[in-house]
Order: sequence, then C-alpha cells, then structure tokens
Amino acid sequence: MSVDLSLSGADLSEQLLRELEELAVTAAREAGRFIVDERPRGLGVLDTKSSVNDIVTVMDQRSEALLRRRLLDARPDDAVLGEEDGTSAGTSGVTWVIDPIDGTVNYLYEIPAYCVSVAAVIGDSGVPGQWKPVAGAICNPLSGEVFHARLGGGAHVLVVDEDTSIRVNSVDVLLQSLVATGFGYVPEVRARQGEVLAAILPEIRDIRRAGSAALDLCAVACGRVDAYYESGLNPWDLAAGWIIATEAGALVTGLGETGPGQAAVVAAGPGIHAPLLVRLEALAPLR
Ligand code: IPD
Ligand code: CA
Ligand code: CA
Repeated sequence: MSVDLSLSGADLSEQLLRELEELAVTAAREAGRFIVDERPRGLGVLDTKSSVNDIVTVMDQRSEALLRRRLLDARPDDAVLGEEDGTSAGTSGVTWVIDPIDGTVNYLYEIPAYCVSVAAVIGDSGVPGQWKPVAGAICNPLSGEVFHARLGGGAHVLVVDEDTSIRVNSVDVLLQSLVATGFGYVPEVRARQGEVLAAILPEIRDIRRAGSAALDLCAVACGRVDAYYESGLNPWDLAAGWIIATEAGALVTGLGETGPGQAAVVAAGPGIHAPLLVRLEALAPLR
C-alpha cells in the first residue's frame, strides 16, 4: 500500500511514535474505566444507525467525547475520526481514529467482551487504501488488559503495570486453525456472511464470534485464536487492532492485493494467512 510515511515533510520519528502510543494507552485506559464506572443503571438504546440492531448508547457518546477531549488537549493540531461524531480536521498529519465502545451489543447485555479502541493513523482515513495506523491501544476494561503497539516497536499487553510482549500462533494447517469472525448489522449483508461462514466452517478447527472486531484482532495478536476475517468493517473498528496484530507478527490484508477495509479484513499468522486468503477469495464477495 502506498501511504506516504512523512508528515508535512518531517519523518515519523521514534520519539513521535512513542508519544502517540503512550497517549493511545492513556486515553483508551481512561475511557475504558469510564464506561464501566459511569454506566447508568438500566442503560438503554439511545439511537440506531444502519439497522435497528446497530445501536448507540449514551455511553458510546460520552466515551467518544472524553477521548476527543483527552487527545486534543494533548495534541491540539491532530485530526480525529470517531464513530459517533465523525471527523474534526487537523494540521499535524496525524489522525486519531477512535471507537468509543467496540462491542456495544456486548456492553448493552453486560457480556464482558467490549473495549475502547484508539489509533493514530497517517494518510487519508476517509479513503480506503490511503491510510495506515502507526500506533494504537485497545483497552478491555473488564479483563484489565490494554493491548498496544507502535510501528516497529512490537506488540504488548499491559495489565496493571506489567507489560508483556505478545506474538501470533505459528499454526500452518487451516483445518487446525481456530478462526474468529463477525457480522454486520444489515440483514442482507448478514445473510451473505452466513453463507461464507457455512462454506468455511467444515475446513477449520472451529469458529468464534466474540462480538468485538478490535478484540478479535487482539486475539489473533496474542494467540487466543489463529486467524480472523470479517467484511464490512469501518476504520474505527480495525485501526488499532491492525497495528497491534501486525506488530505481533500477523499479516493483515484485504482480498487480493488490497489493504484491509470494507470488502474484507483477513488477519492471521504467516503460516495460515495464505491458505485462508485463497479460500476467502474463492468465496468473494464476502458481503
Ligand atoms: C461492531 C463489532 C462487531 C463487528 C461489527 C462491528 P460496534 O462494532 O466490532 O464485532 O462484527 O462489524 O460493527 O458496533 O460494536 O462498535
Ligand atoms: Ca466497532
Ligand atoms: Ca462502536
């Protein structure tokens, strides 16, 4: 993918990458605590988006507002793209791509598989294939894990103050691979995603549907699953998980020569990525 790695002429320095990673960790952690501590009793659905099941709660909105404040207080010249409030422009060349709660349906039902996802990206996050993440953090507030990475720095999981390096699995047989996936919210898209799943299921160890794309990518990164694929993801679903999985040794692509995006995200260790990709390409379109 041809994303220019310079920012207004200045190189993406190691110092800047560290600053972005640290800010992502701090912001994701604070918002993670916030959505647990401030969750109102009897939390309900405030609004719906692409379908009746694509829900927004008041905490999605409040978490995004908190993240925007923290990120822009620290770096006022950056742009922000958030799921709930869209884009605010910047001049630094860095855009924060944020999902204030990924796994909102789990959050609504109090299933402990939701997170806050914060990524610093370069390029144009509004144009598929023209952006890439350079640092990111994903906080699962109920497990206490903060997954994080920066370009060239490896991937880690932070629990309290213990930081551990993480790595993808080395499985190289598709039939022995545990594969995570997810589904969109629009019924017709889901029907097609179900067909793809039915075709792939007999050819793998088993399937997992956790309900959070960001945590699925972290699961690939730390070896809790061997691979993950999904179609229909937006930049905020995948930005932080993309850099975390990549830095943990995964290949994160779309179909063919394309980068990850709406058509597909395929993330897996090098031993299993190629056979999974070939199979998914034969089944395309995935949505
Ligand atoms: C959703 C989750 C889900 C995935 C959907 C996403 P949200 O994000 O990541 O796992 O399957 O495609 O839209 O709505 O919980 O932020
Ligand atoms: Ca999401
Ligand atoms: Ca969300």
